[in-house]
Amino acid sequence: MMELKIQLVPTGEIILPPGKNGESYCHSCAKAVGSDWERAMMESALTARDRVGVQDFVLLENHTSEVAFIENLRKRFKENLIYTYIGSVLVSVNPYKDLEIYTKQHMERYRGVNFYEVSPHIYAVSDNAYRSMRSEKRDQCILISGESGAGKTEASKKVLQYYAVTCPASEHVQTVKDRLLQSNPVLEAFGNAKTLRNDNSSRFGKYMDVQFDFKGAPVGGHILNYLLEKSRVVHQSHGERNFHIFYQLIEGAEDELLRRLGLERMAQQYQYLVKGSCPKVSSINDRSDWKVVRKALSVIGFSDDEVEELLSIIASVLHLGNVQYSGEDSGSSYITTDTQIKYIARLLGVDFSVLKEALTHKKITAKGEELMSPLNQEQASSARDALSKAIYGRTFTWLVNKINTSLAFKDKFNSKNASVIGLLDIYGFEVFQNNSFEQFCINYCNEKLQQLFIELTLKSEQEEYEAEGITWEPVQYFNNKIICDLVEEKFKGIISILDEECLRPGDASDITFLVKLEDTVGGHAHFVTHKLADGKTRKVMGREEFRLLHYAGEVNYNVNGFLDKNNDLLFRNLKEVMCSSENRILTQCFSREELTDKKLPETTATQFKNSLAKLMEILMSKDPSYVRCIKPNDAKQAGRFEEVLVRHQVKYLGLMENLRVRRAGFAYRRRYEVFLQRYKSLCPDTWPSWDGRLVDGVSTLVKHLGYKPEEYKLGRTKIFIRFPKTLFATEEALEERKHSLATKLQASWKGYNQKTKYRKLRWVLGFMFRHHPRCPENEYFLDYVRYTFLMKLHRALPKTVLDKSWPTPPPALTEASELLRKLCMQNLVWKYCKTISPEWKHQLEQKVVASEVFKDKKDNYPQSVPKLFVGTRLDGDDINPKVLQALGTEKMKYAVPVTKYDRKGFKARARQLLLTASSAIIVEEAKLKQRIDYSALKGVSVSSLSDGLFVLHVTCEDNKQKGDAVLQSDHVIETLTKVAICADKINNININQSSIKFTLGQGKEGIIDFTSGSELLVAKAKNGHLSVTAPRLNSR
Ligand SMILES: Nc1ncnc2c1ncn2[C@@H]1O[C@H](COP(=O)(O)OP(=O)(O)O)[C@@H](O)[C@H]1O
Ligand SMILES: [Mg+2]
Repeated sequence: MMELKIQLVPTGEIILPPGKNGESYCHSCAKAVGSDWERAMMESALTARDRVGVQDFVLLENHTSEVAFIENLRKRFKENLIYTYIGSVLVSVNPYKDLEIYTKQHMERYRGVNFYEVSPHIYAVSDNAYRSMRSEKRDQCILISGESGAGKTEASKKVLQYYAVTCPASEHVQTVKDRLLQSNPVLEAFGNAKTLRNDNSSRFGKYMDVQFDFKGAPVGGHILNYLLEKSRVVHQSHGERNFHIFYQLIEGAEDELLRRLGLERMAQQYQYLVKGSCPKVSSINDRSDWKVVRKALSVIGFSDDEVEELLSIIASVLHLGNVQYSGEDSGSSYITTDTQIKYIARLLGVDFSVLKEALTHKKITAKGEELMSPLNQEQASSARDALSKAIYGRTFTWLVNKINTSLAFKDKFNSKNASVIGLLDIYGFEVFQNNSFEQFCINYCNEKLQQLFIELTLKSEQEEYEAEGITWEPVQYFNNKIICDLVEEKFKGIISILDEECLRPGDASDITFLVKLEDTVGGHAHFVTHKLADGKTRKVMGREEFRLLHYAGEVNYNVNGFLDKNNDLLFRNLKEVMCSSENRILTQCFSREELTDKKLPETTATQFKNSLAKLMEILMSKDPSYVRCIKPNDAKQAGRFEEVLVRHQVKYLGLMENLRVRRAGFAYRRRYEVFLQRYKSLCPDTWPSWDGRLVDGVSTLVKHLGYKPEEYKLGRTKIFIRFPKTLFATEEALEERKHSLATKLQASWKGYNQKTKYRKLRWVLGFMFRHHPRCPENEYFLDYVRYTFLMKLHRALPKTVLDKSWPTPPPALTEASELLRKLCMQNLVWKYCKTISPEWKHQLEQKVVASEVFKDKKDNYPQSVPKLFVGTRLDGDDINPKVLQALGTEKMKYAVPVTKYDRKGFKARARQLLLTASSAIIVEEAKLKQRIDYSALKGVSVSSLSDGLFVLHVTCEDNKQKGDAVLQSDHVIETLTKVAICADKINNININQSSIKFTLGQGKEGIIDFTSGSELLVAKAKNGHLSVTAPRLNSR
């Protein structure tokens, strides 16, 4: 054990906090949900059964006791409660039976709900990752680990199904969802097999990215595969099988297809299928699985031709396994039956004799010449097996690529905006009686994942404490970096030493590799061999073994086969044959460049190391969630919980350490608003609401609850609670409080109910008596009607003087409404008047006069309304200076050009009409032709038509000389308004219908007749009258 000078608790949030920030989100709207009511519903869903043992190990009374830990697992397992948390890490125990906990209803229950509010579940982890991705725009990954058969693959399928069902979808998205789901049966058929531990064991590692668009809909995916266990193609241990696809093909394919592939419906016929002596397994139905796989291939987008070519390869591998050799005395070998070779040649589209030769010879180059050197029987068999493994392995990689093409997010433009949830389902730590190269790689992979777990955990915890300004104490923790280095370090690590032995000239063997290991890493604290071990250890180690002290336990590896497996050699001439194949899948798997490439191919271990390094990079860039799978027994039996086996897994999954570290820090953290919202009812100062700062609210609340200073810390946005029991007590208090609140609620609900009934009755009565005078029966109703009218009026009052709208009042309010309306208008007018300028006021005053005189009386009045009256139509420049001189100090108020009609012949003459303070003056150029004092102005006559003629009537004395003036103005309304105002003759403007009489002087009279016509005409008529025809502008 080493002490890390870092402060940690494993991984992010725990039961209480939902996302990182505590709000709960609904998938489709990504908005906060979770009213008190909903929360109450959720919690009531937690039945007593769900509460068996503790749902979170953090709450375990005796948290350092492994016995108590396992007892809690067992208790829950017996109740079919297979999920338990350690903080936010989900521990899952394989039930080996179908539980009714994966229905659509279950999915709905977990959707957008806080961790704490529902019982632990893989859906809660899935949902939490999804919500974090949506709300924090951070890529997520779910890391599923555990030993073979513990339920990793099932868990990853559940996660995928959860997203397929609960995430928003459209037509295109549906296709992607189908393809994502259907990739599983295909990959499992080709990459899974029955082993002693698991009838459906994944023999490859898998990392799958699910991409989501900005709406949260799954829109694409990508799979990375790791180290397929190819050796299984040619050999299986007792009780195990080859990859499922072989059996599915033989059991499920139609007769016609089998005939084309040259296969018989009998697995026992094929050498590659009988090594483990169990071609049939009761738990597996190869025939129905075949149908599923065949359909899945179509959904993913395989054409019939592609499927046929893929199956031809699978069939060829089976035929290869049946190729038999016999040896000759000379040491060379020959093939005893040609039938298989014929099939293979036909199925793969290669030359029969070239294939046959390549299976018994190897090509060597001696002194620049290529020679075919015969292989002995053993060499030939292993060359054949190497070919089978190579064909199968590469086809598997091709298959993954093909699936990736089908899952690719098509929208290049938006692909950058896609968020990702990665799912890692990779082989767990494996310890067998005999451990080989594969276990070495698998366990190395688990060391790397443990390293990642430490790093990500530390990082996020530290960041959080720092961000919140919380101090914390260092925690003892085993850092397995030392073991990772032992395996992978450049030049000095086990993989480097293995590569060196593989590549060096001379007689390298598995044993020389072991010796080299002893020489190089012999002194390492985590490495032992038989030779280096003490007496006790020696007893349990073979001479050909080395032992690694993994973080999860000790494992002895037998070096036999390490060099071959690492080299993964395929003779050049076999590669050449494959390159010549007419099978289009194979031509993609074997490229000609490979033949000419002089560079040595990377060894298997180095390839694996590099791909793991890339995987770590991918995972490091994401926020992790952990699922730790445990299997309760080796017999795949439901209901059986073997303590020894479980204890072992608890140990090497590091669960106790996980828990210890979790407890050493702060067990709970919650954002202030979430904490306050949940527990505010427990303190009179915070109930029913707290108006001050959140942190003060929380502080008041926890002080009231009696939290001791060492029990909690207040950060910047969150409260950190050190011990689970503190929170536990608060939760209990809340439970009790809820009961009393419920009683109160009940009481007020009853009251409310009664009141509602009474109100309804009163309403009906009021309606019936609504036309009666006010009385107790209709009082309420009438008041209500008034109130509603007034409220409506309040919202709909006119905003401007011109707005004449007004809501219709109820009969009882007609009078009041009218008064209000007047008041309102007065108010609006008053407001309006306050805002107008003196010029505008003057203008309006004149307009008012014009309106009083002419409105509805003269035809061209409406046309004048929108035109502003001007101060004067003629200014100083337009009037002769002599006239101005003659006026002297008399101020001119208005001047306008007019036409004057002679008294005798009614000849039209251009004149100017000037208005001063005391008289109207008719001017002809420089002469003042007629001055009419306002005192002598009897009145003004004008027609009701649209013409501009008017007569200024003067008194008799004045009349002696000139008589009345007959004038015409183009602005008759304006001109006469000015005259009326200047002369104060507003009431003396007469509007005549058909004719006007006027005096001609010397007592004579003239007459003007007005008629309507199409255009304006002014002329002397035969009867001696002045006849005016005016166009009709407005119909009155
Ligand atoms: N949640 C589960 N509910 C029911 N059965 C399960 C569950 N998880 C695993 N199993 C059973 O255990 C078997 C092995 O699980 P699997 O996920 O393939 O293990 P792993 O991938 O860890 O090797 C499955 O085939 C299934 O029968
Ligand atoms: Mg698996």
